[in-house]
Amino acid sequence: MSSITSGERLILASEHKEKANIESVDATSFHWNDEFDQWRARLQGKWNAAYECIDRHVDEGRGDRVAMIYVNDDIHEEITYRQLKNETDRFAVVIKAKGIKRGERVFTLLPKTPNAYITVLAIIKAGAVAGPLFEAFQEDAIFERMYNCDAKMIITDAQLKSRVPSNKLPALEHVLIDGEGADKEAGEYHLQEELESVSKESAAQVTEWVDENEGMIIHYTSGSTGQPKGVLHSHRAIVQQKKTGEWVLDLKENDVYWCTSHPGWVTGSSYGIFAPFLNGATSLINTGRFDANEWYSYIERFNVTVWYSAPTAFRMLKAAGGQELIERYNLSSLRHVLSVGEPLNPEIVKWGYEQLNVRIHDTWWMTETGAQLIVNLPNQTIKAGSMGRPLPGITVAILDESGNQLPRGLVGQLAVRKGWPSMMREIWKNEEKYRSYFPYDGEWYVSGDLAYQDEEGFVFFQSRNDDMINSSGERIGPFEVESALITHDAVIEAAVVGKADELRGEIVKGFVVLHPDYEESPALLEEIRLHVRGKLAAHAAPREIEVLKELPKTRISGKIMRRLLKEQA
Ligand code: PRX
Repeated sequence: MSSITSGERLILASEHKEKANIESVDATSFHWNDEFDQWRARLQGKWNAAYECIDRHVDEGRGDRVAMIYVNDDIHEEITYRQLKNETDRFAVVIKAKGIKRGERVFTLLPKTPNAYITVLAIIKAGAVAGPLFEAFQEDAIFERMYNCDAKMIITDAQLKSRVPSNKLPALEHVLIDGEGADKEAGEYHLQEELESVSKESAAQVTEWVDENEGMIIHYTSGSTGQPKGVLHSHRAIVQQKKTGEWVLDLKENDVYWCTSHPGWVTGSSYGIFAPFLNGATSLINTGRFDANEWYSYIERFNVTVWYSAPTAFRMLKAAGGQELIERYNLSSLRHVLSVGEPLNPEIVKWGYEQLNVRIHDTWWMTETGAQLIVNLPNQTIKAGSMGRPLPGITVAILDESGNQLPRGLVGQLAVRKGWPSMMREIWKNEEKYRSYFPYDGEWYVSGDLAYQDEEGFVFFQSRNDDMINSSGERIGPFEVESALITHDAVIEAAVVGKADELRGEIVKGFVVLHPDYEESPALLEEIRLHVRGKLAAHAAPREIEVLKELPKTRISGKIMRRLLKEQA
């Protein structure tokens, strides 16, 4: 490995710890359509992402490989692809037996345990659409998503079930409880009991063969206006998820891969479920919150080779201690490290290079894009501060406000030419929103990010082009938080913006106008903060709340001027 500093910029030449999977690929002649044609020829109309993730490995003699290593304090469990097949078969039978039909939505609300993965795959195997929810979501956040989606079933556990407002969800027919604590009188089912009654014969034929364009998974994600939107991906997304797993994650047969995201987020599904299992890798699944010592110890204990995490986590590791902390662990198994979700600071790339002895490879994509689009490939030079270059077969442009392409070096709207395999299929029940991503004659997908591209094609993120907040890589829409804020009796009006923060990138900052009957006090502000936390999730609750006499608004439309408040924050 060699590094040079050009001007202020850190440039890391490609490393050759091992031959990368992408090495022999001719990027200029690669077309996703050719890739598609191969899949279509092979599958002959019989698509099912869960089959490709699991059963194919068993059918092709790789059933004894370990699919998941689960670690939670003293628990350490290993699950092979064959076991994963048997489990998902039986789960899928239960889902079908409850009357769930192809294309209907089944949600999961589970901590990051093997069942969070098994249930999502089983739902997909049964031909239904999986709606994995982040485990920290609270009642209002869960309600908005399940209601919008007409969810028919949810699989949750005794700890989390109280957050599911079943009585307010008319489409919800079944609540399945994983583990103890099913309230049968209230109509809940005990999942394990249901699994016991599944016959071998029914399990053997459970896979529902679907068309490549049928719904597979739905993730709700925030924009700058309105409630979160349901981004639906179809089975065809696996074409790109598999290839990027091979090229960008560089997954090989003996890799132990660790994606730190929960399956409720798109990183935790596209690269926590699909990409690793499609490539037959072994995935480490960890429960619990961030802890620097624990995280380093996982790498050592399980010989993690490929690691996909986020800038906030790297910043937290850096803040937790320098060389003396790192030297307590043997991290030499790491051969490929990647980042996603928010801007990766050049200092962090430098830290990784100097302290962890790895190059951290940034990747850019979105919930809507389903898979990575701008990447730092393992065999290529990294420019610290850049998200990388377009993946082979992907065309990126920087557009001005009228949709004209800007020359290299100028900042504009980051756009991607339509037509990559894992592009979202639809925005649930919101055709207008879907169309808004393609404003210029439909050719370009406009991301909402501002960026520029240098002469060599490296893309540099600048900021969002809207009011969306990115805290620790989690996407937060101001409207959802404002709506929760004003449900507190003391709050008449509210506006929410992102405030720059060294550790988290941004934090959520709320501005509120108080009801005249209430007096501002630290206790009241804390109460309001906890109120939002209890309704949405910890990451969405404002870390700071400031009281204003009135909110700045545009004179004509009366819209809140969040930009002014952001400057003030
Ligand atoms: O603003 C960009 C930021 O995260 C947004 C997408 O968020 P989400 O849909 O939650 O998906 C996150 C994980 C795929 C983008 O519009 N973002 C994502 N990756 C990067 C990034 N910002 C800077 N650098 C990145 N590598």
